[in-house]
Amino acid sequence: MKKILLLLGAVTLTATSLAQPKLTRDNIDEVLAAMTLEEKATLLVGGARAATVNGVTSGQAMGPVQGAAGNTRAIPRLGIPVTYLADGPAGLRISPTRQGTDKTFYCTGFPVGTALASSWDVDLVTRVTTAMGNEVLEYGVDVLLAPGVNLHRNPLCGRNFEYFSEDPVLSGNMAAAYIQGVQSNGVGTSIKHYATNNQETNRNEDETVASARALRELYLKNFEIAITKARPWTVMSSYNRLDGEYTQQSEDLLTKVLRDDWGFEGIVMTDWGSKAGTVKSAAAGNDLMEPGNQTEIDRIIAAVRDGSLSQDDLDRNVRNMLNYIVKTPTFRGYAYSNAPDLKAHARVAREAAGESVVMLRNVQGTLPLQGTEQLALYGIGSIDFVAGGTGSGNVNKAYVVNMVDGLENAGFKLDPSLTEYYKAYMAYDLAQRRLSSPNVRSGKYAEIPVPKAAIEAQAARNDAAVLVIGRNAGEGADRRLVDDFELTDTERTLLTDIANAYHRAGKKLIVVLNIGGVIETSSWKHLADAVLLPWSPGQEGANAVADIIAGRINPSGRLPMTFPENYFDHPSSLNFPYDYNRNAVSQNRRTPLKDVDVTRYEEGIWVGYRFFGTAGRSVSYPFGFGLSYTDFNFSRPVVKASGDGFTASVTVTNTGKVAGKEVVQLYVGAPAGGLVKPVRELKAFGKTRLLQPGESQTLSFRVSAYELASFNEALNRWEAAAGTYSVQFGQNAECIPASATFKLAKAQAWPVSDAFLGVEISELKL
Ligand code: BGC
Repeated sequence: MKKILLLLGAVTLTATSLAQPKLTRDNIDEVLAAMTLEEKATLLVGGARAATVNGVTSGQAMGPVQGAAGNTRAIPRLGIPVTYLADGPAGLRISPTRQGTDKTFYCTGFPVGTALASSWDVDLVTRVTTAMGNEVLEYGVDVLLAPGVNLHRNPLCGRNFEYFSEDPVLSGNMAAAYIQGVQSNGVGTSIKHYATNNQETNRNEDETVASARALRELYLKNFEIAITKARPWTVMSSYNRLDGEYTQQSEDLLTKVLRDDWGFEGIVMTDWGSKAGTVKSAAAGNDLMEPGNQTEIDRIIAAVRDGSLSQDDLDRNVRNMLNYIVKTPTFRGYAYSNAPDLKAHARVAREAAGESVVMLRNVQGTLPLQGTEQLALYGIGSIDFVAGGTGSGNVNKAYVVNMVDGLENAGFKLDPSLTEYYKAYMAYDLAQRRLSSPNVRSGKYAEIPVPKAAIEAQAARNDAAVLVIGRNAGEGADRRLVDDFELTDTERTLLTDIANAYHRAGKKLIVVLNIGGVIETSSWKHLADAVLLPWSPGQEGANAVADIIAGRINPSGRLPMTFPENYFDHPSSLNFPYDYNRNAVSQNRRTPLKDVDVTRYEEGIWVGYRFFGTAGRSVSYPFGFGLSYTDFNFSRPVVKASGDGFTASVTVTNTGKVAGKEVVQLYVGAPAGGLVKPVRELKAFGKTRLLQPGESQTLSFRVSAYELASFNEALNRWEAAAGTYSVQFGQNAECIPASATFKLAKAQAWPVSDAFLGVEISELKL
């Protein structure tokens, strides 16, 4: 048998050594037929850390684009070039400097995903990512490893800042807009991390156990919306396991749902790390292994030789790869400039930050500040401002505007003693710790105390106080409950002392939350006169915050998730490793650790506002919440049957005194009977243009019957029940100023492929 196989191998080699077609868009089958088994295996494995394998050159490690996360391998004899893949999602991540040249390769640091989602403005997101995609193209990269769309299941997930929302419709539409913008440049995206990478603790091994309903309605829905609407070139499978399989080895996920149900035609690549089951991944529909190593190539070759990987599966994946390669700028021979217009993109970043800031509190018109002479600016974060998160989500930007720069640019005078105090501390701390790269501004400094007596004196000589509270996070670890979700003791003391001193002096305190994920606010928000939430708003974000404080921009951001009163109000807190990092658990454990090795999504569909709204649990700030300097009125809505669903319109009028933008959130409540559903679910949303006082705009939304449907596990199908739906126009999930009804005459159903069935889990019932 062995002999015959060897012989066959030799014959193949002879045949192909004659056939040397060069890859074009039109000869993919011919090239496929000309490839040797070794060449095929080579194309399915990334070459980030290899130069030459099996006589096939993958360029120097990382090739000409230094700092790119990975690449695919070249097969020069067939005209197949190396293509380059780089992170994402807050901008392109490559090395800013290179050996042998003084030229720099900085990229624009845009607002993080959560901030973009807070704009609730898909056109804005497309403008941002059109600029981002131009940097991808002009720096010679083929695919941006973004967007990240995992749902905010729990506020402590360390990567929530990269992701959009707790809601799949907001998240999926943001992702679609993101993909369209990047890909309009003729480069690709990689929507990630597919799927259920909703925690970072033990992210490589942890197993999600979730019901088909929770998966289909929440954790896959955002991918479904983005993939079917915007056709990303690639999908990145996640590290973790789901219902018994690594996601990168799950045929349910990669073939049945992704390709059969949603019609995805691009490639799937693994997240960055080799797993033993290369062959299983390839068979399940994971086309590309990243970053790639020789062992993976050898495994594929051996598996095809021994029959454990079918020739059909191999060829299917290789064909997908060839279809991807012919689309890339590298293949087209695009002459990139290495000189994108960073100035123009900085303007886009600033505009995006301005549209994304959420004003959480503004007692008695504290903001905008008027007639303010001098501000006292507190918090180490005012100087060590966090533009974006750490890890692969960090962008090497040329500069970060901090709050000192931002407020001064906006014309405010700052109390110099405070700025000097923080700068002196940072210089001292830097010298002590010998931090190696002071240019990477990622929130390295913990808050420091300010003596009470100093605060009293500052309150006497300044007109108002601004306190910046900073947080940073990044991949590989989740955030902690204590000293992260909750304020640290130093922060709480500082906040209280400032509030007391300034209030005694009849002056105001404005808190700026320069954070990546939700923090606890209910215990301290009464101390602040105003609270602004710019998240991690990119390199220009502090300018935008200052513009809002000065009243040059009217805030129009809205929360893309709930701020609970208490962390434990989230049902997912029962199944999340919230204290793992504190209680340093031994890694040499024998029995699986709850939520570290296996995380059971026992809350089912009761995530975020779906839970809080239906359970009637009070929150600190609801999903969709955000204040404005003006007021808006919603007209009586008009709902008309259209297609198999409806079209609903509402007219928004600016009834206040200054120009502003309003976000319209369309929620639907389903008829009783049938499946148990949340009281309301977001189905569509939109943002008005800048409305002058007295001006109106009508916004219309189309919702199809399929979009009204819920997933019936017993029958493995989507179902839209017949009956009367309430169509609710909200300013947030708890404030519905206008509503109407829509009657669906006949029940409808959409069967799907049989994936994730029979999972044993007992779920929360409301
Ligand atoms: C991250 C991905 C990233 C990849 C390449 C991984 O550690 O999870 O999001 O795209 O690295 O840098």
